[in-house]
Amino acid sequence: MESLVTDLDFIDNRTPEQAAAAACDTKVTQETNTGRARKLYIESYGCQMNFSDSEIVSSIMFKEGFDTTSQIEQADVVFLNTCSIREKAEQTVRNRLGQINYFKKKKPGLVVGVLGCMAERLKKSLLEEEKIVDLVVGPDAYRDLPNLINEVDGGQKAVNVLLSREETYADINPIRLNSNGVSAFVSIMRGCDNMCSFCVVPFTRGRERSRDAHSIVEEVKDLVQQGYKEVTLLGQNVDSYKWASEDGTEAVNFAQLLEKVALVHPDLRVRFSTSHPKDITDEVLHTMKKHDNICKYIHLPAQSGNSRVLELMNRTYDRDWYMNRVDSIRAILGEDCGISSDMISGFCSETEEEHQDTLSLMEYVKYDYAYMFFYSERPGTLAARKLEDDIPLETKKRRLAEVIDKQREHSYIRNQLALGKVHKVLVENFSKKSDEFLSGRNDQNKVVIFPKKHYKKGDYVNVFVNDCSVGTLFGEAVD
Ligand code: SAH
Ligand code: SF4
Ligand code: F3S
Repeated sequence: MESLVTDLDFIDNRTPEQAAAAACDTKVTQETNTGRARKLYIESYGCQMNFSDSEIVSSIMFKEGFDTTSQIEQADVVFLNTCSIREKAEQTVRNRLGQINYFKKKKPGLVVGVLGCMAERLKKSLLEEEKIVDLVVGPDAYRDLPNLINEVDGGQKAVNVLLSREETYADINPIRLNSNGVSAFVSIMRGCDNMCSFCVVPFTRGRERSRDAHSIVEEVKDLVQQGYKEVTLLGQNVDSYKWASEDGTEAVNFAQLLEKVALVHPDLRVRFSTSHPKDITDEVLHTMKKHDNICKYIHLPAQSGNSRVLELMNRTYDRDWYMNRVDSIRAILGEDCGISSDMISGFCSETEEEHQDTLSLMEYVKYDYAYMFFYSERPGTLAARKLEDDIPLETKKRRLAEVIDKQREHSYIRNQLALGKVHKVLVENFSKKSDEFLSGRNDQNKVVIFPKKHYKKGDYVNVFVNDCSVGTLFGEAVD
């Protein structure tokens, strides 16, 4: 999201028309042109779950007579699928609504809907705060979209923010939107039952529920048939996936699900996110080891390296527990297994020494990659109710800068370990800089760039890596 805000700062210098139409990372790239009566334009913000939900929304709307378009100018309905995780994420959406207002003035019949986490958090009040919004729909209410659109067509504003304990959209076949045709996201669960004190997700996404294992495997088989080469299984806490058949004869945990998906096809790469340090089991690690096509990469957010802060965050593990999980990963899967993290700097009452503990934990693990944020208080969360957001913004930013510097150092060290070796790369696209080069990922999720030769999107290519930067590996294909 941070980079999006930078984009918006930049496009604000343009004419309103340029600004409103400006390319955004999040816009639809896939169009369905089946001659349906109306067109839907949808932008997604926030985490991969939201991107995955937008594909479900597009499918529901398709049945209701909407093609998707990547051109906002052609849209009859504009949806923003929003994120509330930090204040900045919400500000980005408000700015975007301001830009969309420009289109609504030109085309008064344009329907504007806010979906997702911000819709759930702000509910009806969003209609008062943002006058251009016609429709507010929470993440568990997408099946109601046809009715809600009808209400709006009838001249009313429409809201449905009911959360559900059962909804998993298991039977809905998503329309792949931002897909390169090579990798796809598959949602395996929804909601979250953890109560990390800083986090708004349990309020915006409701209780945790796991999707029927058969429907997941079916979706993956279908993707393989369509030529997809990689799936990422998605959930806020995949390790607590647990599904049982109604008659009680079948029960599937995450390790077992992972195995079922890995067995769908040996050439299908399997990834997953996010793993929670308190729940990731050795059974999962052994399953990863057993199957070559399960990528050796784990996103294991620590948030902090200090046990007192972790307790205040209600993460339910401490520094030692986290280090022990990392030791298990290294012992079972080896030093090569990629590990990444999320870190929050400047959480309530964090001292300078406690911040140093985060840096020393990073030193211990040497993450391949990290998503790093400074703490942003979210209304209604445990921390907002019980703890004081007392670290000055300047201090938060300085600590965050130190965490980022440390991570850059480590990303570079980890990338250097890849030099002089052959990596199996799944090609995803052309390189951003030149069509003479291809871009893909290795098993550890690192981006690898190499000269195209006769290779193409979707190929597995053995690449000898001979150079690297902080963020990328470079090499040559070897036959
Ligand atoms: N389910 C995942 C996290 C999802 S939210 C997990 O438990 O790891 C993604 C990341 O956003 C979090 O890991 C955290 O680092 C960050 N985040 C969440 N709430 C935040 C807040 N209030 N301020 C700053 N960062 C936050
Ligand atoms: Fe938020 Fe914690 Fe749930 Fe992750 S595990 S979504 S940080 S409450
Ligand atoms: Fe944001 Fe909601 Fe995801 S708050 S991070 S879009 S679950």
